[in-house]
Amino acid sequence: LKTLTDSAAMRRESRRAREAGARIGLVPTMGYLHEGHLSLVRRSRAECGFTIASLFVNPAQFSAGEDLERYPRNPERDMRLLASEGVDVVFTPEARAVYREGHSTWIDVEGPSAGLCGSFRPGHFRGVATIVAKLFNIVRPDVAYFGQKDAQQCAVVRRMAEDLDTGVDIVVCPTVREPDGLALSSRNFFLSAPERAAAPALYAALREAAGSIEAGERSAKAIAAALRDRLAATPFRIQYAEAVRARDLQSVETIEDETLIAVAAHLGATRLIDNITVRPPAGGGPGAHRSRPTESGKRTN
Ligand code: PAF
Repeated sequence: LKTLTDSAAMRRESRRAREAGARIGLVPTMGYLHEGHLSLVRRSRAECGFTIASLFVNPAQFSAGEDLERYPRNPERDMRLLASEGVDVVFTPEARAVYREGHSTWIDVEGPSAGLCGSFRPGHFRGVATIVAKLFNIVRPDVAYFGQKDAQQCAVVRRMAEDLDTGVDIVVCPTVREPDGLALSSRNFFLSAPERAAAPALYAALREAAGSIEAGERSAKAIAAALRDRLAATPFRIQYAEAVRARDLQSVETIEDETLIAVAAHLGATRLIDNITVRPPAGGGPGAHRSRPTESGKRTN
């Protein structure tokens, strides 16, 4: 497994692979890898002749008081996992080389950065869009892989990739879950045993909300209120719980299109996010025939 820390060397390596005719896949990560990340690597390996994974805990997407310092790290284990998955190159730059002295260019993606996590993590998506654009410029991938668990991040990255004419295809892969429904996240590491036992309530509440839409509920407000009520009976402290239009994350009063039900909540000191998408059955209204949910009812979404 080749490990590179230098941007110029990374660019050369990627150019060589392209000249050899390979399609280049990029899996951007902040490390502390789990099956969710590995599913992105596997997808890239299946679709691309050359797969690059980046490992970089991006300081620019954490604001003061967030968990940058204590974000879990285990680079040795990450390298072993990436090697066993057959990744071609791991790019793991130093923060001071990524954000050199005088760095003053930031990418603000209006629209999809607003609302949901954007309301509670000021500057977060600016940091994400900037690092992903920098990675695209260094690696020059044909395709980049992201997980649906970070639905808003996916929308931000997709918009950025399109608006800046990067030519990079953005592929969003299903959320990978524990057998009890908990979405895999590096931050699950922080959960105490009782918190871990309580954690599946988040996905259970999302599935119930998706079920209400499938059963004919069309009020986004009612869905959100029921979701909040359901979680109020658990140890979670909700930051937001919303049903928005999946296509553009816009708030709607009446659910007509595919809908993203998204939630962020704290369990003790750990902030977890999760979401589910659901397509309202054609015809709508209570008692309308049930259609297949787009994602609920599966172990992955
Ligand atoms: O999803 C993550 O791990 C990060 O936000 C990303 C995309 C690697 C950018 O730092």
